[in-house]
Amino acid sequence: MRNICGAIAILAWSSMAMAGSSTPVADPIADGQVLVDTYCSDCHAISKTGESPLPIAPRFRDLHLRYDVEYLSEALVEGIVTAHEAMPEFEFDPDQAAAIIAYLKSLSEPDQNQ
Ligand code: HEC
Repeated sequence: MRNICGAIAILAWSSMAMAGSSTPVADPIADGQVLVDTYCSDCHAISKTGESPLPIAPRFRDLHLRYDVEYLSEALVEGIVTAHEAMPEFEFDPDQAAAIIAYLKSLSEPDQNQ
């Protein structure tokens, strides 16, 4: 019991420390980009240009044409299983899934700074 309380105290302390610090808030889109670059880019086109290395894998920028990318969130956490065995099964934690969704959404938005 004491250990659990200690862990909670540390968590509370570190989130207070983060709130008080001047470092920028983590950027979920950037995190998502790192994740898809690491795990998905062998097969999928992950950016606004370019073709998928594996032609049958949909370009990520086209996913929103097929469905609301929010629906993917659950799939990412519970493990995406597609009909295609070429695609491995993934399970991400909810923060990682949220970051990937944020990145996928950013692909369907017009560039703001270009
Ligand atoms: C080894 C190759 C490979 C990797 C790595 C890979 N995919 Fe895929 N993915 C595929 C293929 C092939 C398909 C097409 C499957 C189909 O149409 O049956 C696909 C389809 C998908 C689809 C569409 C599923 C549907 O039902 O429409 C999504 C979403 C997707 N992948 C997400 C991801 C994400 C997110 C990652 C990284 C975490 C990833 N993929 C990594 C090969 C891959």
